[in-house]
Amino acid sequence: MSTEPDNRPLRNLDVVDEDTARRYPQDGNDGFRDYSEGSRDGVREFYRLNHMHQTVDFVRETRDRYLPLRNREMGIWEAMDFLNELVDDSDPDIELPQVAHAMQTAEAIRANGHPDWFILTGLVHDMGKVLCLFDEPQWAVTGDTFPVGCRWSQKIVYPEFFELNPDREITEYQTRLGIYEEGCGLDNVLMSWGHDEYLFHVMKPWLPEEARYMIRFHSFYAAHREEEYDYLMNDHDREMFRWVREFNPYDLYTKCDTPPDVEALMPWYQELVDSFFPKKISW
Ligand SMILES: [Fe+2]
Ligand SMILES: [Fe+2]
Repeated sequence: MSTEPDNRPLRNLDVVDEDTARRYPQDGNDGFRDYSEGSRDGVREFYRLNHMHQTVDFVRETRDRYLPLRNREMGIWEAMDFLNELVDDSDPDIELPQVAHAMQTAEAIRANGHPDWFILTGLVHDMGKVLCLFDEPQWAVTGDTFPVGCRWSQKIVYPEFFELNPDREITEYQTRLGIYEEGCGLDNVLMSWGHDEYLFHVMKPWLPEEARYMIRFHSFYAAHREEEYDYLMNDHDREMFRWVREFNPYDLYTKCDTPPDVEALMPWYQELVDSFFPKKISW
């Protein structure tokens, strides 16, 4: 079986997300879609590349390329259309376009009576995947995130692949605290680059802080699920991580539900988007 990474845009992105849901099954619900061995191999290969290439230098250089935001000006729906274009309809493994996962997550949040900003966060949380369209490799767009510049937690998925990361040779990066100070706060920590960190910067002017935390750390499973890296957090991070944890099940466990009627829901979501965002925002 081939372990070549699948380069069809966005295909592996969904497979990687679904693998996360499999790693953290919901209590009493193991009816989530199973995958072929081929998909699992794809996920392994994805993390091999991710853990090999996400170095301190890579993160710093990529941040400098994107921040401050200067790539383009786009409205929310324009960006959503842009993401949808990448889905290959002929692929039976892609069941839902990106807008459907977005709306499904948002609808589950709405059904539980959460406020508008929370619903909106569900809608936009994965839009940082537009990075794929800016030609970033998939390992720099999706998957679990983790701090760089300090020792990797053994609870990060596939920790053995950090053997391949050149930061292993830099003694300063291999201590518990690495380049950081105890309790320095996550805002001072360099996270591996991906759709989470990128979208945090895109959304910063428009969404409340709880939403910004949900977006920025939704793939930081080593912290919000495994309770690692507490020593880098300050009390404010710990407080805000309550929201990251609150958000997580909506992201993980909605993909198996019935797909939303995107067309019928669109007017409601258009109004919601208009109440938070201007016509165009910086990406
Ligand atoms: Fe995500
Ligand atoms: Fe998601």
